[in-house]
Amino acid sequence: MANEIKISPSILSADFSCLGKEIEAITKAGADYIHVDVMDGHFVPNLTIGPEVIKDIRKSSTKTFDVHLMIEPVDPLLESFADAGSDIITFHPEAEKNPKEIIKKIKNLGCKSGLSLNPSTNENVLEDLIMDLDLILVMTVVPGFGGQSFMEDQLIKIKKIREMINESGKNIDLEVDGGINFETAPKVIEAGANVLVAGTATFSGGPDMYEKNIKTLRGL
Ligand code: DX5
Ligand code: ZN
Repeated sequence: MANEIKISPSILSADFSCLGKEIEAITKAGADYIHVDVMDGHFVPNLTIGPEVIKDIRKSSTKTFDVHLMIEPVDPLLESFADAGSDIITFHPEAEKNPKEIIKKIKNLGCKSGLSLNPSTNENVLEDLIMDLDLILVMTVVPGFGGQSFMEDQLIKIKKIREMINESGKNIDLEVDGGINFETAPKVIEAGANVLVAGTATFSGGPDMYEKNIKTLRGL
């Protein structure tokens, strides 16, 4: 299955003092998705933004809002994230007792459903869930912070999940997140990923560099 590469800049590395302008700039520079990292200071040690901020920055781009929830529990806040304008909502299976129900709820709210696998989470968690998913996110760092180093040992998992997706016959995005830069991007593409989250690598050098950074990540 030939896949077009999509770039999803993580706004965690943007300048938060002018977040709307930063999102306009990465949109103009060719971003496919806008990756929003939501952290609760509990499921992961860091604390970031919630639905109110998403609602406001939603006005700065017509691109797909790719919302990565690193929160526990997920269920009570789903409606707020959907109402704020999320297009894809991704969560971690460890954060809920019944992931299948959460996937269903996300869809009923009119969003696409994603599941994120930590480096220590085995791909077999997908077996009962894959047919209901629109996106699978493989973490290539331990979630919590931008700017960490890519974990090479996740490449095998990416390959296995690409095979699972191909076997499913479904059009499911395989996204990778953490330490994606000009050196690691070709490796994850080779392993079968088709959506690359990149914070540090997209935003480095300031707005004049965003277009070039995104093109380079795409392998152009
Ligand atoms: C990590 C977040 C990532 C992170 C990516 O917990 O989910 O999206 O911000 O940042 P870089 O590309 O800098 O590793
Ligand atoms: Zn993320």
